Amino acid sequence: MSKKQAIKVENLKKSFGSGDAFVDVIQNANFTINKGELVALVAPSGAGKTTLLMMLGCVDKPNSGTIWLGDEKVYENAWLTKETRKIRREKIGFIFQAHYLIPFLNIIDNLTLLPQANRIKDSESKKKARELLKYFDIAEKENAMPSQLSGGQNQRVAIARALMNNPEIILADEPTAALDMNRSTDVVKMLKKIAIEQDVAIVMVTHDDRMLQYCDKIMKIENKGIVFE
Ligand SMILES: Nc1ncnc2c1ncn2[C@@H]1O[C@H](COP(=O)(O)OP(=O)(O)O)[C@@H](O)[C@H]1O
Ligand SMILES: [Mg+2]
Repeated sequence: MSKKQAIKVENLKKSFGSGDAFVDVIQNANFTINKGELVALVAPSGAGKTTLLMMLGCVDKPNSGTIWLGDEKVYENAWLTKETRKIRREKIGFIFQAHYLIPFLNIIDNLTLLPQANRIKDSESKKKARELLKYFDIAEKENAMPSQLSGGQNQRVAIARALMNNPEIILADEPTAALDMNRSTDVVKMLKKIAIEQDVAIVMVTHDDRMLQYCDKIMKIENKGIVFE
């Protein structure tokens, strides 16, 4: 097993429902993503991008196949641990199209909320949050409310939040869909920087071809399988 490997998927299958409501989403996916890579996931609407991310993030269960996260096999025809929540907490950061910041908490409290729920010391998580805000050039916003920040700034906070647990993998589902071209480019360049500097594997769903130039690989869902371009 390669030390660089962040995600490895073999013979992954996923369908929903049965009878008339049966939807076959992924028939046979096989791929590896390495640490430090920013990978774009591209496919038409309804092709299974979100479904794939949710399986990689140990949120949704595949029907069969194998998933490794780093050197840990987490799924082989069943979750191999009852603690998928622990895997999510320790290994994974999620970023979505909307920032989902809590409107009545200031920026620093938004960042420290989950660490607090996970019983991480307040002083420790505040320190980490301040480092990240500085890294993202919004240190002066720590006491501001989300409503006082621009869309791009809020999305930076959401990215900072995804990094609070030092994840090995970041799963970003259309993180730039709500942003204009300049802000989108900012966000994607930032993700690229994180991938390199923190040796994190990032899978980013995007519909914007202009963002692909910043990605290391382009992964597509085609014929219910995965192909790389
Ligand atoms: N929980 C679910 N129950 C039934 N069908 C679902 C569910 N989630 C997704 N699907 C179906 O799976 C397919 C892929 O959906 P999705 O992963 O959201 O696509 P994408 O993110 O590429 O737009 C769609 O046909 C969708 O309707
Ligand atoms: Mg989707």
